[in-house]
This record gives sequence, C-alpha cells and structure tokens, in this order.
Amino acid sequence: MVVRLHLIFSVVSLWQLAFAFPNNATFSNGPRKIGKRCTGTIESLADIPDAEECTTINIGGFTVPAGGTSLPLPSISMSGELTFAFEAWAGPLMVISGNDVTFNGNNHVLNGNGPSYWDGLGGNGGIQKPAPMIQLNMGGTFENVKIQNSPTRAVAVSGTGLTLTSITVDNSAGAAANSASGGKPAGANTDGFDVAANDVIIQDSTVINQDDCLAINRGTTIVFENNSCSGGHGISIGSISSDVTVSDVTISGNTVTNNVNGLRIKTDATATGSTVNGITFTNNKLSGITQFGVIIDQSYPSTLATPGTGVIVENVVFSGTNTISVASDAHRVEVNCGSTSSCPGTMDFSGLTVTGGLEGAIVHATLSGGSF
Ligand SMILES: *[C@@H]1O[C@H](CO)[C@@H](O)[C@H](O)[C@H]1NC(C)=O
Repeated sequence: MVVRLHLIFSVVSLWQLAFAFPNNATFSNGPRKIGKRCTGTIESLADIPDAEECTTINIGGFTVPAGGTSLPLPSISMSGELTFAFEAWAGPLMVISGNDVTFNGNNHVLNGNGPSYWDGLGGNGGIQKPAPMIQLNMGGTFENVKIQNSPTRAVAVSGTGLTLTSITVDNSAGAAANSASGGKPAGANTDGFDVAANDVIIQDSTVINQDDCLAINRGTTIVFENNSCSGGHGISIGSISSDVTVSDVTISGNTVTNNVNGLRIKTDATATGSTVNGITFTNNKLSGITQFGVIIDQSYPSTLATPGTGVIVENVVFSGTNTISVASDAHRVEVNCGSTSSCPGTMDFSGLTVTGGLEGAIVHATLSGGSF
C-alpha cells in the first residue's frame, strides 16, 4: 500500500506534458488528481479535464490552438496527428517533463507547420521561430513519432535516462526554396536531435533536414545507433562551450547520405574548462559528403581557423569499419587542434576508411591507423 501510494504520488508530481504558447503565464501547471485506472481520450483541448485524471492518455487528431495548457501525464499514446498553429514566438511548442514518461506516437505526426515560418534564415533572423519544436526534459521512452516540418531545431533532449526509438524528423520540404528564402533552402537550423543530457539512447531513427543530424553539447553515456541522416550537416559532437563535459559517446551503425560533413567534433575557440573524452565511432557508412568526411576542429565558430586550447579532446576511436566517401572537392580528414595538450594522446583511426576528395591536414594531434 505504501508503495502504491508512492507511485500515485509520483504520478501526480513527476509527469507533465505542456503545449507551450506565448501566453504561458496562464498555464495551469500544478499537480492534478491523477492515477485513475482509466484510458483518457483527448481529441480536443476540451477533453483534457476528464482525460488527465487517467493513467493512460490517447491524444491526437486536432490542431493545438494559440492558447495554452499543460497536462501531468504518466503514459501518452497518440491517436492522430497533432498540428501546431502558427505563432511567431520563442517556443518550444511542446515540452514533456518527468522521470519516467512513456510516449508512444504510434507513427502519428507532430506537425510543426514549418512552411509558415521558413524564410531561409532559421534562427538568424526573419520571422521569429519557436525552438526547439519539442523539448524532452524527461526520462523514459519516446518512440514511433513522426516529426514533420519543425520551424527550426526539432528535438532537444535535456532529461536523464531517455531512450528514443523509431523517430522520424522529416524536414525534407525545407530543402526547396520558397518565396521568402531568396533562392536558398527554405528550412535552416533544422537540427534533428540536440542532446544535453546523460544516459540517452537514440536508435532506429531517421532525420532529413538542413542542419546537424545529431549535435551533442554536453552529457555522458550517449548512444546514437542505427539511425539514418540525409540532407543535413552530419553527426556532431559540439559545438562545445565552456565548463562542460561530453564523455562516453557511441556513434554506431548509422547511415549518413548527402550531408555537408560526415563525423565532426567542434569546440569553441574561446571555450575553457571543457572536456570531450571517449568518443567511439563504429561501423558507420557515409556517402555523398560535400565538405569534410571527418573534421575535429577547435576553432568553432570558424572552420579550420585559429584553434583554441581550452577544451581537451581525447580518446577518440574509430573501431570496426567506418567507411566514408566524399565529393571530389571535399576533404577526407581534417584535425585542427590548438596544441598537443588540448588533443593529448593518440587518436585511434584504425577503423576508418575515407575515399574520394582531397587530403586534409592533421595539426597538433597524433593519429594511428586508418586509410584516408
Ligand atoms: C543495430 O544494427 C545491428 C546490425 O543490424 C544490430 O546487430 C544491432 O542489434 C542494432 N542495434 C540496435 C540498438 O537495434
């Protein structure tokens, strides 16, 4: 009984789904009486008061209007598409918080209405675009969700202990120009997954976009496995700012096609007090890379400029068979470290083969093995 009560208390206090809006001052964020053994159905916002008392919620099939509400939910199951109405504001459009949340999209669509925002400028001007589209400040599982047309960044992972499985981020429509983008791709800064969290697995997912497929900004014990990335800027550790740690990262079994970069570690030139330690790339296949097959660069936001020395990058390993084919004017491997003490030890490139393109330079780093 005590355990049961504790669980119900946890339901009350630890789960929350918020549809966030500009007027979020009016949100109802307090704990609700929840935990009835029922399945609630939400097909419009009017269904929320009854449904939110249930332990399982089916949600979908409506447009979230420019208003606001929040739901404390233990288990969320989508029953139809959710479309987010246009509004020029900071975002995010949807936030899920909690320690052990189950979210199953059942392959339904979360539609961010990107074409209403896209102007080729992303987060750098023009129409204000809510970002990220979805903030997962949660542990648990998030699976079978189709995220379509995010205004800019799609999914930000900020909770601990989250497994994402079979997520599609489809911003393929953003590759074409529109009337506002001056001939450039209309979608910009449409990162697939931005991770700043510990104990995260992202697997069996697909990203079609115009920026990083994956960007890890901080965190430990992160696995990115058996995903596919197309059209964007590649798989990236970073950019790394000051006083953060990224460690124990496994990037394995991914397929990357037609991206600007393949595998990248980028650290801010001015950053201090940060560490990137233990990055393992295993059995990834990349093709159609247009600028850099592999790039480790301590000069961000510039590229291959004067690097900083305030971020230690060590224990970078290519294991198994990573193959990368790059375009004829792309560079196969570039390593641009500020000093041998900011890239200490030997980087193990034995499991890497890069073909095509041009040879790059290795600056202030020691590499072993590989063919590139
Ligand atoms: C990834 O794919 C490999 C090869 O098919 C498979 O052995 C492995 O179990 C997969 N990993 C996950 C997490 O599904």
